[in-house]
Amino acid sequence: MASNEKRETFSSGLAVFFATLGSAVGLGNIWKFPYLTGQNGGGAFLLVYFLCIVFVGLPVMMSEFYIGRTARKNAIGAFKAIMPGTLWKHVGTMGVLATYLIMFFYSCVAGWVYFYLFKALTGELSGITMEGAKAQFGSVIMGPWSPILWQCIVMAVVSGILIMGVKQGIEKITKTLMPLLFVLILACDLRALTLPGAWEGVRFLFHVDFSQLSGAAVLTALGLAFFKLSLGLGCMITYSSYFTEDNNMLGTAAKVAFSDTLVSLLAGLAIFPAVFAFGMEPGAGPGLLFMTLPLVFAQMPLGNLLLIAFFFLASIAATTAMLSLVEVPVAYCIEERGMSRTGAAVFNGILIAGVGVLATLSVDPSSLLGQMTFMGRGFFDWFDYLSSNILLPIGGLLTAIFVGYLMPREQVVAELTNQGRLAMAGMVGMLYSILRYVTPVLLIVVFLASVGLVKL
Ligand code: TRP
Repeated sequence: MASNEKRETFSSGLAVFFATLGSAVGLGNIWKFPYLTGQNGGGAFLLVYFLCIVFVGLPVMMSEFYIGRTARKNAIGAFKAIMPGTLWKHVGTMGVLATYLIMFFYSCVAGWVYFYLFKALTGELSGITMEGAKAQFGSVIMGPWSPILWQCIVMAVVSGILIMGVKQGIEKITKTLMPLLFVLILACDLRALTLPGAWEGVRFLFHVDFSQLSGAAVLTALGLAFFKLSLGLGCMITYSSYFTEDNNMLGTAAKVAFSDTLVSLLAGLAIFPAVFAFGMEPGAGPGLLFMTLPLVFAQMPLGNLLLIAFFFLASIAATTAMLSLVEVPVAYCIEERGMSRTGAAVFNGILIAGVGVLATLSVDPSSLLGQMTFMGRGFFDWFDYLSSNILLPIGGLLTAIFVGYLMPREQVVAELTNQGRLAMAGMVGMLYSILRYVTPVLLIVVFLASVGLVKL
């Protein structure tokens, strides 16, 4: 019986750090963060982003860590264990639902990234032209069979790692790949920053322009901080249920938030100098990642090698983030449904690949699924919108209220100072106050604005 097995934990503080950082670092760092920073006033946006991390990100992360390590259970089971017989368990239910919605489209984009890595490895992208890059991207996303195949490969990899468990799977992979990701990103930085004309890209990222800092930009920063730090759906509850008893969780939260931001900035410093050096448009999202970059790299010496490095690091980032997402329903199925780890990982992998196909096929506007839109959005966009704009902020808000108002201050301080062994009661107390009085207000504003009930 699965429930009789001894519950696993990570083996050290370092393992906790790399696993949690692996969750935070994802596709968001590589295109979303740099692009949004450049667009919304550079350094000014960064400043707001840091404030969002301090006033929303860290307090919510602290709450999830508190819940997870206190209960040592999955996202739903943790609420059940702490508040038995109440509706609070449905914060966990919503989290599991949000996880699926995110995974349906995330696994699709991750499939494109794997496919591009494969193409870079076979040399298919070297020397590509503008027209070629566009055609390439079109054929990759509209397949229709190849993107489905790669989405299945992605889910097979993720499920395969999760089958190996917390220590042998998640811990081993993140401890090996996260340092490698840093090395690869630094190699790309070195090349990009030594290009003639690179400075323009650095300026795009770091210029400080408060006039571009609209209310919408502040909202964007808040949403980004939330998504980047993997908050609002019980992902950090699940991971922290595997943390060691002596882990300094506030320290972990701060180190992860800092390192994640560093990775985002390093990604920006690899992308924008190269883009500007070759006179390209710093376009948004998928286009930048899948069309502009191959084009830029095709034009420089050692380009294909860098392209391989870049898509390899993007694959690492996407994969380690997905490990943390899929572990949410996997832990639930093991602990609440009595499944074996293997059964849970295979079941969830198949479920996500199966329904995720809807997102993948909806990208081609001429296809049957591409034409099925509801209120202007297709499957891909609905999955994204419902999870990021609705479920994450509500989940984060309820988590903040749960810990800030239902858990006594002394209890939270005791758990986060490891029963007084860490001399940081003052720090925890301060974050607890922020959690009570500042975080919920900001989250309510974000939520109302994101569903269009408040205009900022
Ligand atoms: N943080 C990851 C990224 O930036 C995505 C992610 C992983 C996530 N786990 C999450 C987002 C939990 C929200 C909630 O790509």
